[in-house]
Amino acid sequence: MRFDPDLLDKLRGAHHIAVFTGAGVSAESGIPTFREAQTGLWANFRAEDLATPEAFRRDPFTVWKWYEWRRDLMREVRPNPAHLAIAALEQRVPHVTVITQNVDGLHHSAGSTDVIELHGNIWNNFCFHCRQPGEPAASASDVPPRCAHCGGMVRPGVVWFGESLPAPAWHRAAEVSEHADVFFCIGTSSLVEPAASLPRYAQSCGRTVIQINPEATLHDGFARHVLRGKAGHIVPELLRAAWPEQREGA
Ligand code: OAD
Repeated sequence: MRFDPDLLDKLRGAHHIAVFTGAGVSAESGIPTFREAQTGLWANFRAEDLATPEAFRRDPFTVWKWYEWRRDLMREVRPNPAHLAIAALEQRVPHVTVITQNVDGLHHSAGSTDVIELHGNIWNNFCFHCRQPGEPAASASDVPPRCAHCGGMVRPGVVWFGESLPAPAWHRAAEVSEHADVFFCIGTSSLVEPAASLPRYAQSCGRTVIQINPEATLHDGFARHVLRGKAGHIVPELLRAAWPEQREGA
């Protein structure tokens, strides 16, 4: 694959790179994306039946079971070449911040050290009532489990539709989008606000936005560079092209 020389220069000269990611980055690890017809996670369900506080109040058993199914799916998966190449950027650029909508923790597993999880993390639980983090109480037969502190229902530590993003994560994501020299937007349909506004915000602050996705998205119109293809192929290729002297895996 041939890349625009301006893009390669920009990467080599960057002091801080932001990498904004969505479900497409984990697709090649075997985790279904949300919106792809047939295979997408929402294909057989309506999001508002499963991923809202109202749904949890109405039918906590089904919501908890759905997240258990997703955890089982994620337990088996490993970071793919896209996650690993994003982590390897840290050996080439002074500051790299990953801003992810994914809840699977795969950027951490790949070795990225500065990861902002905008939609939380599926491996963390907290109490729906008192919001204390923590493990379920001993009576694990309850579905969902009960909070050890107040007896409330334990819920998955992800952001649901209709909930605010964690304020510290959001403020930091906005700050990074404003200041990073380069802003990658990888594997997201960018339909869910407010996260979806970050690429446009970065562009409006004069940052170089690079879009990587096999499909067209709303961001193609203003991204400086649009790279069409799978993240697991394009991101490692881009690193090899920009830093040919650096050995693989480093
Ligand atoms: P989507 O399922 O909406 O979009 C996935 C994107 O990844 C699409 O644009 C695909 O074309 C692209 N894609 C698929 N395979 C790819 C690959 N191998 N490499 C690169 N891109 C690929 O997922 P998100 O945009 O992450 O929110 O969805 C954002 C949020 O909506 C999620 O965090 C979730 C969801 O509803 C909540 O749960 C609150």
